[in-house]
Amino acid sequence: MSTVHLVMSGKGGVGKSTLSAGLGIALSASGRHVCILDTDIGLRGQDALLGLQDNVIFDSLDVIHGNCELEDALIPYDEEGRLSLLCAPQFSRVKDFTPRGMARLVRRLRQSFDHVIIDAPAGIEKGLRLSLKSEIDNAIVVVTPDDLCIRDAERVIALMEEREMGRPRLIINRLVPGLIEKGEMYSAETVAQLLECELLGAVPDDPTVYRAQLQHLSFMQFDCEARDAMLRIARRVCGESVEIYPYGKKRSWLARLLRPGTKEVVRIDC
Ligand SMILES: Nc1ncnc2c1ncn2[C@@H]1O[C@H](COP(=O)(O)OP(=O)(O)OP(=O)(O)O)[C@@H](O)[C@H]1O
Ligand SMILES: [Mg+2]
Repeated sequence: MSTVHLVMSGKGGVGKSTLSAGLGIALSASGRHVCILDTDIGLRGQDALLGLQDNVIFDSLDVIHGNCELEDALIPYDEEGRLSLLCAPQFSRVKDFTPRGMARLVRRLRQSFDHVIIDAPAGIEKGLRLSLKSEIDNAIVVVTPDDLCIRDAERVIALMEEREMGRPRLIINRLVPGLIEKGEMYSAETVAQLLECELLGAVPDDPTVYRAQLQHLSFMQFDCEARDAMLRIARRVCGESVEIYPYGKKRSWLARLLRPGTKEVVRIDC
């Protein structure tokens, strides 16, 4: 059975694409076949996040218009071919996509992959236009712990309910445990309570995300707290009962000594 995840937000720049890529890598590390569908038409970013920008020939619109086979447009991320990317077109507009064409595409992806992760564009209307309520099994809203983002998330959640998509689950991104402890930042639980949604995960603000991007790598290739958080989220997505934390716990010197800075993604079972 294939699961289609929609990763969206109210406010832009909250980490949807970063976390979609992280979720894709984490799920594929468990042996699942995963496709990330970038729907940020005109502003795609997944190819760069996954270091695949030089491999793009076709995109999702080419598949919809029959300019190529689906297989020709899928870009493999790893040698095993467990994670693939289907890019958004760079020189098209949202209105070039019909919800029917997108739905058909997602149904085709369902046939080949265990998980399809739709990385939605920023903006409520744009984000929801292609959200295909009937095809979504797991709607995720990414929120950063600030009032502006929470307010925008509130609006997107209300619109999702209006469109009978149900209540999404939340990933709270860019948390700073030190500030939360001092009462200077909302905790993930507080944000979830304010938005009255289930908490799916909590990801810390982690400089490794930025450092990895500078090297055209994913933070999932590094032993870091954001990666730990994504591995937990992937397990929760697969129905495992995994604690949301600890992400902010300092590792002991012994643990740090035994876990070098960079390492291969480990398998997770789900
Ligand atoms: N947990 C994190 N720690 C540190 N930096 C992060 C984290 N998550 C995301 N970022 C950074 O935030 C920026 C925005 O991330 P990203 O592009 O994934 O957001 P987005 O929601 O997809 O944006 P858009 O709405 O434009 O599509 C990037 O520079 C990314 O590296
Ligand atoms: Mg994005």
